[in-house]
Amino acid sequence: MKIFLDTANLDSIRKYNDLGLVDGITTNPSLLAKEGGDVEDIMVEIVRTVKGPISLEVISTDFQGMIREGRTLSKYGKNVVVKVPMTPDGLKAVRALRSEQIRTNVTLIFSANQALLAAKAGSSYVSPFIGRLDDIGDIGMDVVKDIKTIFSNYDFECEILVASVRHPLHVIEAAKIGADIVTLPPDVLGKMMAHPLTDIGLARFLEDWKKTKSSTPKITVER
Ligand code: E4P
Repeated sequence: MKIFLDTANLDSIRKYNDLGLVDGITTNPSLLAKEGGDVEDIMVEIVRTVKGPISLEVISTDFQGMIREGRTLSKYGKNVVVKVPMTPDGLKAVRALRSEQIRTNVTLIFSANQALLAAKAGSSYVSPFIGRLDDIGDIGMDVVKDIKTIFSNYDFECEILVASVRHPLHVIEAAKIGADIVTLPPDVLGKMMAHPLTDIGLARFLEDWKKTKSSTPKITVER
């Protein structure tokens, strides 16, 4: 399963990218607005920093506007994926951009039917928003399960990008279903790495090592 970061924060992106944990990035207008500064500069810098797919979202809601923006965004780098909303014009834009070899990610997906239509339109990715479904009392992960079954039945090439992830349990559930990608807020990725028993165990090992009165291990034995 690939791990994307769901952020426009360059410090977080650099931090986790340096650890080799980032397969791609998703952004949206809210995430970019949160960063302040020149939005275009931030997008260009993200595209330069991470090699994998970078989803950059259009703001237009009409077909022509989406195409125009999609073409512009795609010029930022070969790894750009144009994010379009799940609307009739959005689906039309997916098909048109695909004919120009521009990859798309259909966002704001809340049902398996929407994902089916996005895949049929030729999108490279669908983004079901799990946390927002959970928020209204639905089971977001059930939508991911249905999408997985449908895409397998028809061999769609479209990848399932699980979005609106709120906690590490969402990641485990998505992985068990076999979703292709999860996109994570940086704090969720941090939480995935941590376990109190790891910290306790490491502290104990280091304490015990001190009792040996050695410094760090040296190579004294011929191999
Ligand atoms: C996905 O691409 C979106 O940016 C994101 O996951 C939305 O998540 P939210 O519900 O936390 O805003």
